[in-house]
Amino acid sequence: MCGIVGYVGVNLAKQELIDSLKKLEYRGYDSVGITILNSSLETCKAPGKISELESKLPEIDGYTGIGHTRWATHGQPTEQNAHPHLSGNISVVHNGIIENYHQLKDELIEMGYEFKSETDTEVIAHLLHLNYQQSRDFHTAFRKTLKLLEGSYAVAAVCEDIPDEIIAGKKNSPLVVGLGDNCNFAASDITAFLKHTKDVIFLEDLEIAQIQKNDVQFFDLEGKPVEKEKTRVEWDLEDAEKAGYEHFMLKEIHEQTKSVYNTFAGKLSELDGSINLDELNLTKKQIRNLNRIELIACGTSYNAGLIARYLFEQLAGIHTNIDTGSEYRYRNPVFCEDDDVLSIAISQSGETADTIAALQSLKSSGCNTLAITNVIGSSITRDADDTMYIKSGPELGVAATKTFTSQLTILYLLAVHFARVRNKINTDDSRNFIRALKKLPGNIQKILNSKDTIRECAEQFSDVSDYFFIGRYTNYPVALEGALKLKEISYIHAEGYAAGELKHGPLALITDNTPVVAIATPGHTYDKTLSNIMEVKARNATVIAVAEEGDHEINKYVDIVLRVPETEELLSPILSTIVLQLLAYYTALARGCSIDKPRNLAKSVTVE
Ligand code: F6R
Repeated sequence: MCGIVGYVGVNLAKQELIDSLKKLEYRGYDSVGITILNSSLETCKAPGKISELESKLPEIDGYTGIGHTRWATHGQPTEQNAHPHLSGNISVVHNGIIENYHQLKDELIEMGYEFKSETDTEVIAHLLHLNYQQSRDFHTAFRKTLKLLEGSYAVAAVCEDIPDEIIAGKKNSPLVVGLGDNCNFAASDITAFLKHTKDVIFLEDLEIAQIQKNDVQFFDLEGKPVEKEKTRVEWDLEDAEKAGYEHFMLKEIHEQTKSVYNTFAGKLSELDGSINLDELNLTKKQIRNLNRIELIACGTSYNAGLIARYLFEQLAGIHTNIDTGSEYRYRNPVFCEDDDVLSIAISQSGETADTIAALQSLKSSGCNTLAITNVIGSSITRDADDTMYIKSGPELGVAATKTFTSQLTILYLLAVHFARVRNKINTDDSRNFIRALKKLPGNIQKILNSKDTIRECAEQFSDVSDYFFIGRYTNYPVALEGALKLKEISYIHAEGYAAGELKHGPLALITDNTPVVAIATPGHTYDKTLSNIMEVKARNATVIAVAEEGDHEINKYVDIVLRVPETEELLSPILSTIVLQLLAYYTALARGCSIDKPRNLAKSVTVE
């Protein structure tokens, strides 16, 4: 995830910015840059690590500056795309996504602005320049610019005409001011300046900070002064990196309100129910002609693919197969001459050897190939004809959490888009779907608010040796994912089963000491799931249901209910999975496991 820093003080800004950016390295990034406000703006950027920037940085005097670590979302991690972005005598760094940047960019190009990068951020620099030319007042220009932006942002800017000052503002992206001794900071994260000060002021949405070395003033977007309270943080550096969460995994589970939003931001048009997938090169004709989709993935990504199979079949009416990378490679799949196949490889890291090899094999069989990944420029993107990025930000916990829900989100978008192009759903249906998608971040927050109940449940069963997870239809892959998460971080043996399959053998293992998690959200298999719950109850199992808020019926059948908010049947896997992520997390916590680095699991599995 990108990181912002701004420094104004009595030390050389160059060293202060580099030190601060290094403190943000843990967030993950793929390019870096700084601007120092001297008598002119001195900007230096580099793809890669901070050390690469350091090796090319000239001597620069100056005591004010802004810096950025970029985690690519719009465009490759190149020097041009790295921040800061400049327009005339103005330099800008930005975190977040500007949803209306296409429209703003077109307007600016018409006015004669030239774009040097592929980023959404560059529109902010040019808008700021344009508004400054008109008002000749940098603060007015900054406020006017922020008012034009839709989406999320934390922005810091400097202007050559205003020495020793940084201006910063935010909406839906964190920004905090650090109050030092003869120096002040702006940053996306306290870690950036923790060595200088623990006195901070958090900006609220649509607030602006005007930062000088011995003074910070706050305003709203109308320019009215805002009184802010100073907070003293008692975090040490490690706490601060995790934003106060005990583990990265817990932080990343909480980030899902944001990461799911980032995945769909700018792609939904409620007006006509369309999904805008600009980055997809597949033409409408190609989408109409498809007669098969082959999904390839491993582990958690495979579970996302299993859910996607239902989506592509039910929504878009496309016959869909799925296999793990490691199995597909050694099969002899049959292709007919008139096959029109799209192969979709799903991999959060983009580096999984088995997935890449299977994708290459599908490509050599003549399939169109699409990679869905989180990491810009990862190996899989070089092999696939087309790539879609899930934009969930770096995931530092080894167990996949937010990347899974973002994979699902992009797969929903793809399925609805295909369905629209193939005339399988009408405008009203896709509008309803879009509305339900937009409610996801709020619904995820409701689950996070109920985490104490999930924790109690996890603690109650933390010393069992076996767990079962069952579900039907799209809840079957959710059961698989719940079991996978539990076993990989808590080391409890866990099985995920299609609920209807239990009676074909596994019921033999159900005892009064095997908790069974039944994903029983509303839908056309709900009644059947209740029957399966009764089967395990008859074997004295304790049943924990994941059920919808308004479902009181379920209380009659099960021992514990973990609630998810009401949503569309096809979207409920995103919500149910988050409950199961928390269940796994709190179980592992109660067992004292190494949660962020579980044994025998790597973030990128680059071996066969
Ligand atoms: C589980 C997990 C792994 C990965 C699998 C595939 O939490 O992280 O099961 O899902 O190794 O990795 P990617 O998605 O990078 O291909």
